[in-house]
Amino acid sequence: MSDVIRFEDQVVIVTGAGGGLGRAHALLFAHHGARVVVNDLGGSTHGEGANASAADKVVEEIRAFGGTAVANHDSVTDGDRIVQTALDHFGRIDVLVNNAGILRDKSFHKMEDADWDLVYKVHVEGAYKTTHAAWPYLREQNFGRVIFTSSTSGIYGNFGQSNYGMAKLGLYGLTRTLAIEGRKNNILVNAIAPTGATRMTEGLIPSQVFEQLKPELVSPLVVYLGSAACQDTGGLFEVGGGWVGKVRWERSLGAGFDPKAGFSPEDVAAQWQRICDFEGAAHPADNVEALKEMMANLQKYAL
Ligand code: NAI
Repeated sequence: MSDVIRFEDQVVIVTGAGGGLGRAHALLFAHHGARVVVNDLGGSTHGEGANASAADKVVEEIRAFGGTAVANHDSVTDGDRIVQTALDHFGRIDVLVNNAGILRDKSFHKMEDADWDLVYKVHVEGAYKTTHAAWPYLREQNFGRVIFTSSTSGIYGNFGQSNYGMAKLGLYGLTRTLAIEGRKNNILVNAIAPTGATRMTEGLIPSQVFEQLKPELVSPLVVYLGSAACQDTGGLFEVGGGWVGKVRWERSLGAGFDPKAGFSPEDVAAQWQRICDFEGAAHPADNVEALKEMMANLQKYAL
């Protein structure tokens, strides 16, 4: 198939692009003609230290094949500086991939405030700061694509990742609302829950599988979501190992009680099977759809 997805006039920021998934995203965007801001603080997986060489090396890789890129070494918690780098060097910003991340895994009873706070800061505050700084420019030009990096640990939960899971599902909440707010300005916002062999997952995934989970197998989805070809917004996509799928909410049809008469915990117990029965389940796409069953119940007992 011909290379129809191109970014010749566009500028892409990829945060945490000095290694792992972010590096693969940055390289693929550059291969497709984008001018790329390669951001990376260059710290450890646990969020300690800083090293400019991580981002610089990826910029060199991009320039080596004739691509255009510039490094930025700020933390995503100073996201306005990353956006400023894009403006200073390239005069615009079209696509933002919020990818930077760290881990501070601990079971909840051992969790310390510092672990909770730092994970929140990098993933949630960092994505907020960078996106918030880019947002006015995306609105002004009536075009933007924003990608947030969630995780199956947020969607499904994972032992030892209460801080990380909280942050990652929080990013999906942010995705949903920015998709609503951005739509009228053609700013489309999606989230991915990737799986890839990086320093973050080394030792966590059996080595035979690990070798096959190349970060490059996540990036085609990210580049598609970053392109004008993508018209989807508010989506959440699981991706890895050469497979991509979309996730959505599912809710049972539930049980209704008379709101005027009230109902007891025993009534809830009696209806528990029905409350948890997903036969014929609904897939609410927005708040209005989500509230439909509740409104129908009010109406049913209104007379
Ligand atoms: P990685 O550790 O290889 O890459 C993360 C990059 O973010 C590093 O280069 C790091 O220096 C950078 N970074 C960390 N804190 C930063 C900060 N404050 N400011 C700027 N840069 C910072 O890990 P990986 O796996 O590539 O992770 C990328 C994203 O994907 C993360 O958000 C991670 O949580 C997410 N993810 C990865 C999964 C996987 O299977 N590898 C699974 C689910 C989510």
